[in-house]
Amino acid sequence: MSEHTIIPVSTSANAGGYDVVVGRGVLDDLASHLPSGVAKLLIVHAPPLAAVAEAVRERLTGRVEVLLAEVPDAEGAKRVEVAAFCWQIMGQTDFTRTDAVMGLGGGATTDLAGFVAATWLRGVPVIQVPTSVLGMVDAAVGGKTGINTAEGKNLVGAFWAPAAVLVDLDLLDGLPQNELLAGLAEVVKCGFIADGRILEVLENSLESATDRQSDEFREIVERTIRVKAEVVSDDFTEQGRREFLNYGHTLGHAIEHAERYRWRHGAAISIGMVFAAELSHLAGSLPEGEVDRTRRILSSLSLPTTYPLGRWKTLLATMQRDKKARAGMLRFIILDAVGRPRVLNGTDESLLFSAYQAVGE
Ligand code: GLY
Repeated sequence: MSEHTIIPVSTSANAGGYDVVVGRGVLDDLASHLPSGVAKLLIVHAPPLAAVAEAVRERLTGRVEVLLAEVPDAEGAKRVEVAAFCWQIMGQTDFTRTDAVMGLGGGATTDLAGFVAATWLRGVPVIQVPTSVLGMVDAAVGGKTGINTAEGKNLVGAFWAPAAVLVDLDLLDGLPQNELLAGLAEVVKCGFIADGRILEVLENSLESATDRQSDEFREIVERTIRVKAEVVSDDFTEQGRREFLNYGHTLGHAIEHAERYRWRHGAAISIGMVFAAELSHLAGSLPEGEVDRTRRILSSLSLPTTYPLGRWKTLLATMQRDKKARAGMLRFIILDAVGRPRVLNGTDESLLFSAYQAVGE
């Protein structure tokens, strides 16, 4: 596999559809993915991506004026003060509606860049260039943008479809292996909710599937993006099916909160997926073998599958506050089988505790 793969996302929202381009050297073709008429490009990037941003600027010299906005790494970027810093650059450079923003970095950077693009002059185009596995298969793909407030994560944001998502696998070259494995938690999630072939690749070819240079790695990344693209095309603003992408996330978000956001997202949702699998089994649908399979696959990626039993009350209280709880009722995504997710609403607390007991240590 060497050419670029184009995965279309069709949405009636703003851009009315966009492509996710996957491959090696995709960023070299950036100019061909810029919307026509762009005179200025604001690259929003975290400090470790400064050299890549500079290389892009050099490559576009004479064609587009490139502005750089270096923002704090990780969640430090998702603050209103940082968005205001970007708006200030745009204001001072007469950034117009036909100019564009590029988000270059992990999920937090692309969330911020998307938000800045969605809000400037009521919306300018954004090209997302994710540099982590999590960003490539999830955060940068579906048009969710946002920042955090003191009261919680992603409380301010907008659905804003990107003009293009460029998934350049070369950008993973310096990524620590444990970061890469954590990003694969979202890949496993898409295996369980939609594409069992992903699970088979991980089970049968673990070594190559976790080698960023291999065809198997590219296959599972592309398959995961296809799952996300298909769901988002059907339900861009999360009125229905898109909620299935939250499999493992309700408990996972509560664990991230309990760990004061010092854990990797993938580690927290790994435990959340074991819990969701146990709940699926107890709710009478998923065979026990698939619960064991969940643990086996996640453990093979060195992801955690247990959490302290004594933390249950704290986690439950956080889940009850979760913005996805509707009218005070807890909602979980569970599976009837691999590829068959559904919503479990108003679940009895004793059933939840029973599922958690199988996760608690
Ligand atoms: N990360 C879940 C979604 O994009 O809907």
